[in-house]
Amino acid sequence: MRSATNDRSAKVSGRVTDMFIESYETLARGGVGLIVTGHAYVTWSGKASPTMLGVHDDDLTQDLKLLVDRVHQYESKIVMQINHAGRMAASSTIGGTPVAPSAVYNPMTDETPKALTSEEIETLIEAYGAAAGRAVTAGFDGVQIHGAHGYLVSQFISPYTNKREDQWGGSAENRMRFLLEVYRYIRKEVGDHYPVLIKLNSADYLEGGLTIDESSRIAKILSQDGIDAIEISGGMPESGIWIIKPGIKEEKDEAYFLDNARKFREVIDVPLMLVGGLRSPALIERLLAEGEADMASLCRPFIREPDLVNRWKQGDQKKG
Ligand SMILES: Cc1cc2nc3c(=O)[nH]c(=O)nc-3n(C[C@H](O)[C@H](O)[C@H](O)COP(=O)(O)O)c2cc1C
Repeated sequence: MRSATNDRSAKVSGRVTDMFIESYETLARGGVGLIVTGHAYVTWSGKASPTMLGVHDDDLTQDLKLLVDRVHQYESKIVMQINHAGRMAASSTIGGTPVAPSAVYNPMTDETPKALTSEEIETLIEAYGAAAGRAVTAGFDGVQIHGAHGYLVSQFISPYTNKREDQWGGSAENRMRFLLEVYRYIRKEVGDHYPVLIKLNSADYLEGGLTIDESSRIAKILSQDGIDAIEISGGMPESGIWIIKPGIKEEKDEAYFLDNARKFREVIDVPLMLVGGLRSPALIERLLAEGEADMASLCRPFIREPDLVNRWKQGDQKKG
């Protein structure tokens, strides 16, 4: 699968462009089985970059259907990743003060967000549900909640960014409440049989951040609650290298979330998608054959080489 990749080629309104659709067609033609879109914002306040994909308005659904139909001309599935950037949004992009669980300064934007009120939190949960409903209408094969990389869901889960003392913060139970409410609201909106996936941080790699023990508990609860698959990732912008780890040169550098994936494996009953540095077809085959993961998820190799899967299928085993 192609892991979510924001290629910033949508319009400022969030609408897809011809170039956007063509790049997805190239991946589908190239043999990718499942394409996850770049994160799409569920409300304007959750927009992380000026020309990323939007799913915040019913008006966008018609054009999103064009994207889906193009991918479905091939043997590929397409899932929409839905997101709110929280403190990762810049005021220059959203035209107002960014919102977050707590007013924790963000060195990436050099801004301090405003802490959400309880009413605003409820409204955002509904926005995730409405966005998922639009994905269904547009014909997507599923939605993926972005619960990683220091965006809003991950900000709520993480003790590093969630300093709230109400029902949305403090204990692990309270910090995971936003995610669980988002998931349950989406499930109510799309029904029991529509695939709802999550990309979840396994650890923040930050002092005072989310640990693997706590993320495993969240993964277990989601698995029991009916999530359809979990893609495991990690890292916050402040933690440096982890989200998009550089320097993957040898096989030992690949699959850099594998240790955490093994911990998830012990507690979940749903398919596990492994992302992070996968490059060698032999290693990928081995991980899948040995049951370490159910899907291999790649991002950067498909930017370089959208027809990588077909190349491998044709017998050229040079790594991606
Ligand atoms: C240009 C670029 C855009 C990305 N956009 C997203 C995104 O929208 N959502 C997401 O969850 N991860 C995003 N990521 C992270 C990747 O999905 C993936 O988790 C990470 O790059 C590690 O996988 P890789 O080693 O195969 O590249 C992006 C990465 C890159 C390089």
